[in-house]
Amino acid sequence: MAVTVVSLGMGIRSAGVVGLGTMGAGIAEVLAMAGLTVTVVEADPDALSRGIAILDGSLRKAVSRGRLTEDEHKEIAGRVHPAPTMAGMADADLVVEVVPEQLPVKRQVIAELDQVLRPEAIIATNTSSLSVTSIAADSAHPGRVVGMHFFNPAPVMRLVEVVTTVLTDPGAARAVTALAGRIGKTPVQVTDRAGFVANALLLPYLNHAVWLLETGYASREDIDLAVTTGIGLPMGPLALLDLIGLDTSLAILEVLEREFGGTRYTPAPLLRRLADAGRTGRKSGRGFYDYGHQETRGAAGSPDQSRPDLAAVSSPGTVTVIGPGAVAGTAGRSAEPHPDRAAELGSLFEAAGISVTSNPAHPTDLGIVAIGPEGGVLGPASAAGRAADAVGLHLPYQNLAEIVPSQLTSAGALAAAVALATRLGLTAVRSADRPGLLAGALLFAHLRDAVAMVADGYATPADVDTAMTLGCGYPRGPMRLLAEAGAGKAADVLSAMHAGYGDPAFAPPPLLREYAIGGLPVQVSGAS
Ligand code: 3HC
Repeated sequence: MAVTVVSLGMGIRSAGVVGLGTMGAGIAEVLAMAGLTVTVVEADPDALSRGIAILDGSLRKAVSRGRLTEDEHKEIAGRVHPAPTMAGMADADLVVEVVPEQLPVKRQVIAELDQVLRPEAIIATNTSSLSVTSIAADSAHPGRVVGMHFFNPAPVMRLVEVVTTVLTDPGAARAVTALAGRIGKTPVQVTDRAGFVANALLLPYLNHAVWLLETGYASREDIDLAVTTGIGLPMGPLALLDLIGLDTSLAILEVLEREFGGTRYTPAPLLRRLADAGRTGRKSGRGFYDYGHQETRGAAGSPDQSRPDLAAVSSPGTVTVIGPGAVAGTAGRSAEPHPDRAAELGSLFEAAGISVTSNPAHPTDLGIVAIGPEGGVLGPASAAGRAADAVGLHLPYQNLAEIVPSQLTSAGALAAAVALATRLGLTAVRSADRPGLLAGALLFAHLRDAVAMVADGYATPADVDTAMTLGCGYPRGPMRLLAEAGAGKAADVLSAMHAGYGDPAFAPPPLLREYAIGGLPVQVSGAS
């Protein structure tokens, strides 16, 4: 029998949270902050104490930052009531379940809630990887089960994905959407597909970063720096994996791989090994970074101390810029340095007081191959007779230098190139000489996934940008980033990656080519 689900939304007064891990505690805090009474049930007493401590610590921090008074702190904390069993939730208008991501565990919780809740109460699942439909299907009232997907840290990230299934009562979806707005979040309504919008875009990009680390393409610090300093995202992918949890990330990737297939979702072996070893990230004190020591990292850090290989040596006084013509008969090929790039680098070096020549016959301290995002150092460096002492240099952003050694580049030349970048006031990261280099490989593949999602009709360009700005703190969403980088350039880099790796996961989708011709459906003006 269909039950009319609470057409509350604005009327939801009492809530429940089942599971008081980091996310559960954050969600309880957000609900209590918005004035709701919150009953929390956590089966493990230690986890309950930890969860309450997280909640209290977060409120205390808000007091210390002047965002709450002591009285408000007490009032909010006083609205949160632990209960020993689900029976304590009997009067709740809505319960959010935040228990571990295992279907049997979720099903058990839903069955218990079905027994105690009023039939018109709503059950929201914060699942990040399981099918909301599967979770709902076992409920006595499947229409009242809605996905309510928060982002970590829940008190800070403004997105809530409201996930509906074919079983969902529209009244329940409306109520959850209204509640999300009432607690200060921006709801985006999506249907039940693996990863929804944000995780389906975020996780393959994070996984890509692990593959790059594991294959020696770039170091841990350089991967994160390329993303934060270059692309401008709030956290590097490896630091973000530590925040999300490597076990959680692995579980989401496995679901994505099952649903979509393809290398973007195949978990990097290193991710699996670290998760298996219990190095799950911040929550265990160790993931890609170690949080037991000084090395804790968020958006910032002191990367240079942890990169002894790039320790400063003195900057070269004379440089040969290896530009076009270095490789006979290769005009038009990607390995051919672009004349403008060579000229730009030459001007930059001269402005920094470095003596520059483009004549390979003149002896200099260092050869710099003016490469583009497609890479290709060895050919021009060898043709110029500088195979051992030439390094590729690419400046994808105003503040970032991608330093690209070839197989033959000496350690001294590499260190000199880093010193040169430092003298220019740039943050240097070292990349393998492969199409896309470091920032481009990560970014353009990520933007490709966003375009593919739009092409699939799963999300609009606006949904994609809202999800990633409000859910993951991006300063600009993928569509805006794509418009700024240029769809044509993105398509070219992706084509080079596709050709270089033979992986269809990098092939530019037809919609990207259309964007390159017709423009993107987003405003770029006003970009910060
Ligand atoms: N709880 C409460 N508040 C917190 C917090 C926490 N855990 N962490 C940070 N904050 C608050 C701080 O108190 C501060 O508030 P204030 O400005 O009012 O003083 C504000 O957030 C900024 O914090 P910080 O200055 O300490 O640090 P940053 O400026 O470096 O920001 C960050 C930290 C908000 C985490 C930022 O780095 C960010 O946005 N990172 C991206 C996080 C992200 O992508 N999350 C989504 C992951 S995917 C997911 O969760 C889905 C799941 O299904 C896997």
